[in-house]
Amino acid sequence: MTVISELQQDHVNLSKLLEILDKKIIKLKDGNQPNIGLMADVIGYIANYAEGYHHPKEDEVFAFFKGRDTKLDGVMQECEVAHTNLKGFAHALLEVIDGVLHDAVMPMDNFIEKLEDFVRNEKKHLDFEEASVFPVLNEVATDADWKAVEAGLPIENDPLFGEKRSEEYKALYVELMRDINS
Ligand SMILES: [Fe+2]
Ligand SMILES: [Fe+2]
Repeated sequence: MTVISELQQDHVNLSKLLEILDKKIIKLKDGNQPNIGLMADVIGYIANYAEGYHHPKEDEVFAFFKGRDTKLDGVMQECEVAHTNLKGFAHALLEVIDGVLHDAVMPMDNFIEKLEDFVRNEKKHLDFEEASVFPVLNEVATDADWKAVEAGLPIENDPLFGEKRSEEYKALYVELMRDINS
């Protein structure tokens, strides 16, 4: 798999969780009570996956191509800012969830709004990369570039990390589906 197809696969995986969260939001608006512990796990998973694995990989790719092309520099810069912002949003939401878990009183409307903002921002970022960053990267990069980029990315070949992550992903996905359909 090329770096871009790996990043796109990450996006597919993340999108699936975000889609279920969207369905969950509709249910919450209908008056369903959230399984807060599960919400915490999913948001935490997305944040860890993005901050510990996906964004660092993108940031390395971006760093490699910095200065090659003005248009590419512009969109990559936007992504770097978005990575920082998304981290802030995720942790703000996790704090809210933590508060609810520790009996802080929070109006459901307020919680739903924060969850909705989180999902919307995550999706917007994935869409931006798919539509405005990866196509430009593919235009600018040569095969030799990708080889060099891949040589500089150590973590992706760690099978243990990959396997553990994918087990966690599957378990969360199943639990979320069960929760949505209950
Ligand atoms: Fe990104
Ligand atoms: Fe991404």
